[in-house]
Amino acid sequence: MQKIVINGGQPLRGVIPVSGSKNAALPIMAASILTNEKLELSNVPDLVDVKTMSLVLSSLGVNVAKSESNKNSITLQYSDTEKTIAEYDLVRKMRASILVLGPLLARKREASVSLPGGCAIGARPIDIHIDALTKLGATFELEKGYIQCSAPKGLTGNKIQLPKVSVGATENIVMAASLASGETEISNIALEPEVIDLINCLNTMGAKIELGDNRSVMIQGVKTLNGSIYSIIPDRIEAITYIIAGALAGDGLKIENLNIEHISNVLETLKALPVDIIFDENSVTVNKSNISEGIEIQTKEYPGFPTDVQAQMMVLMSMAKTKSVIDENIFENRFMHVPELNRMGANIEINGKRAIINPCSGFRGAPVMATDLRASVSLILAGLAAEGETTLNRIYHLDRGYEQIEVKLEACGAEIKRV
Ligand code: EPZ
Repeated sequence: MQKIVINGGQPLRGVIPVSGSKNAALPIMAASILTNEKLELSNVPDLVDVKTMSLVLSSLGVNVAKSESNKNSITLQYSDTEKTIAEYDLVRKMRASILVLGPLLARKREASVSLPGGCAIGARPIDIHIDALTKLGATFELEKGYIQCSAPKGLTGNKIQLPKVSVGATENIVMAASLASGETEISNIALEPEVIDLINCLNTMGAKIELGDNRSVMIQGVKTLNGSIYSIIPDRIEAITYIIAGALAGDGLKIENLNIEHISNVLETLKALPVDIIFDENSVTVNKSNISEGIEIQTKEYPGFPTDVQAQMMVLMSMAKTKSVIDENIFENRFMHVPELNRMGANIEINGKRAIINPCSGFRGAPVMATDLRASVSLILAGLAAEGETTLNRIYHLDRGYEQIEVKLEACGAEIKRV
């Protein structure tokens, strides 16, 4: 089992390039099922989750070819086969596999997708996906852990009010509605940049999708979609993760190839701490910062504070001189990193959905365990700031969402090794 070993306290200086967004690449890869033509994607992050999505799509008849010359470019081409089953052993590895549901229904009028099951951060049901696709004319049955769904007459446009903002449900329904007959109006959609990236990509494929105001979208179904050549947006969560690394140990750490607009709300929060940060249109330079006052953070749907950087923020706020409060409003069990951070010297209390981050006298290296993707990266951040050696186990969680993290950090002076 691979581990990552960090000898903390080294100043981070140099340049970290941000990779393409995992959470934009995954739905856009699933959109390859919506056309028989080639979908050529660039700036795709080289991650385990992208490999898993490639396997799921291949099992459904999509030819996925990675460019010889560039590991971040892939071409996908669906050949309209009879395969419509997304198998359990693949789906259980990555719940985003559920994103093939909408496209399969739209193209094949049937699909059988294993229930994704929960994960470390919560039950993560898909009731919103199912209820909305039902409104487009699909019927669903649950059989042996698989969702069997069919729409023998094809999908028909409808008005859909989502009961709760859901990134994945929005993406599934938008993809399905793009090939439904007639018009679909969806309200209360997720507005994460990754959702907008999917919509932009679909429109380059010939879809007719128009964003309305206050979380609404209008979709005019079309008969067929074409291929496209599309570049994935930068990963805003990865960018913020490295910016926080800079606030903990930076000495002129420059994070580039990012999209400032996608992280503007978090940048404002960090600047107010104050984190010593300067930015231009696609890069940010950060220095180690003395944070006096703690703050209160509520994780929210975009453009609110992202749940995917809650764990990372806890590390930074542990260095403040007064206590902070973070309410995790999106997932029901996303504090798995807290016991591990406390073993490294943090002083964090949990009270239901509320985490209280008390001041501590800094982090000390320790052997720690990763539990989910963002939790594991918070332990890396604490290890970078800690006195002494930290060993992180179960780093397969990390490889799902961070491309070459130890390579990027070592290039900036961190003493970090994968063993
Ligand atoms: C996406 O997950 C992201 N994953 C998550 O990133 C991210 O944390 C999450 O959105 C919130 O921003 C991808 O994009 C691949 P949701 P998703 O549907 O779509 C509940 C990471 O670290 N819900 O917006 O699964 C759900 O349980 C990952 O990269 C229902 O109740 O998130 C959760 O509490 C982790 N019923 C809340 O809504 C449903 O049918 C938000 O979930 C669907 C969701």
